[in-house]
Amino acid sequence: MARKVMVIGGGGREHALVRQLAASPRKPEIYAAPGNPGTATLACNLDVDPMDLDAVLAACRRHGIDLAIIGPEDPLIAGLADHLRNAGIDVFGPGHLGARLEGDKEFAKEVMATAGIPTPRYHAFSTVDAALRHLDTVKPPVVVKACGAAQGKGVAVCDSLVEAEAHIRLCLEDHGFGDAGARILVEECLFGPELSILVVTDGQDYALLAPSRDHKRVGDGDAGPNTGGMGAYAPVPMDSDLCHAVDTEIVAPLLAELVRRDIPFRGVLYAGIMLTRDGPKVLEFNCRFGDPETQVVLPLMQGDFLTLVEATAAGNLTDFLQGLPDAEAGGPDGWPGRGMTDWNRSAVVVVGAAKGYPGKYDKHHPLAVPADDAEAWIVHAGTTMQDGKLVTSGGRVLGAVGEGSDLAAARAQAYALLDRVACDHLFHRRDIALGAERTSA
Ligand code: AMP
Ligand code: GLY
Repeated sequence: MARKVMVIGGGGREHALVRQLAASPRKPEIYAAPGNPGTATLACNLDVDPMDLDAVLAACRRHGIDLAIIGPEDPLIAGLADHLRNAGIDVFGPGHLGARLEGDKEFAKEVMATAGIPTPRYHAFSTVDAALRHLDTVKPPVVVKACGAAQGKGVAVCDSLVEAEAHIRLCLEDHGFGDAGARILVEECLFGPELSILVVTDGQDYALLAPSRDHKRVGDGDAGPNTGGMGAYAPVPMDSDLCHAVDTEIVAPLLAELVRRDIPFRGVLYAGIMLTRDGPKVLEFNCRFGDPETQVVLPLMQGDFLTLVEATAAGNLTDFLQGLPDAEAGGPDGWPGRGMTDWNRSAVVVVGAAKGYPGKYDKHHPLAVPADDAEAWIVHAGTTMQDGKLVTSGGRVLGAVGEGSDLAAARAQAYALLDRVACDHLFHRRDIALGAERTSA
């Protein structure tokens, strides 16, 4: 009988997860909660709010679903994985203890300090006075972060102390992020290229998906404010020293520390890393697949994604990994991918965003997307059906994904496809993955 699996969430990442499951030769029966018009072509969308834990469980029971993948951080932090597991459902995604790595940045810093993982220096505050007194002792630039999860808007990289003070007041005085900003970190600002590392783990064994890079700023040349991500590419060229450092200084110590603290973790652990002159340092841990990184990492995956999800959720990741080819042909020495990545392929995603994003933007603009082909396809993110017609419904509306034998080919595919999207209300960056082959990590 076909395995029934539910993907929880409704963004671009979840469309990419559904796509990868649908490519499984095992032909699973796929549900998405709530999904989007993209997942609707491959899965059965269920009108369920991921933050309503009982409603998600009831939907699983109603449809006989016993395997779930949780995409977004908020339901993970709220304990959805525990809720489903307690009811006998296998879940890809950590319980609330593991999700705290993303939901509480001060906790993540404390775990990193104990495990000896390199990360920027910081101080934590819960009053404006104490934070401002500290600000008097530092030089800009400085980074101010809400400790809780704030939909990617809680972090401000401040070029001036005036900006830093404004973000401190927004968090602690104006409660701009609610409880998520009731405590803040004031952090040393680092410089260097960023790297997204997605570790699949069942709490015992682990393997890394392809290294990827997100483009967080809204404008070409990394100008303007941070966004949820305007595009991404994979693989990022890596040398063996960096592979070794990521594994031995970051991933292995973190997983060992989780074991030491009895924190179970079955899912993806995402390390957001900055490559500084003093080596790689962790800016954040997330407890889930990255968005838009997932859109480019999964197409490069070797092995059956459904079987990977199933094995991780059941705590049998080693069995899955032993069935893969021993090495990753063409990959760098020392990369702890265990055969999960095809290094002879590359993928690029370019996001089409609503004009005005990440500030105020309109919704409900008509949209027509081209059909997929083998090397280029559209991933839906902020789209919806209105009176039988596809319209925009979010800031990041869609992603055009291109795949090819190298980054230049993948990039050309992605941009050619995006040019064929018909919508008068979208903009995109023109420099996603530009020159990426030459900028090694
Ligand atoms: P975070 O959610 O903590 O990863 O922060 C979001 C983004 O802010 C990161 O991807 C970086 O681009 C930037 N950022 C965060 N922390 C720092 C830091 N200490 N120095 C420089 N940039 C940072
Ligand atoms: N791409 C950044 C994130 O998923 O948090």
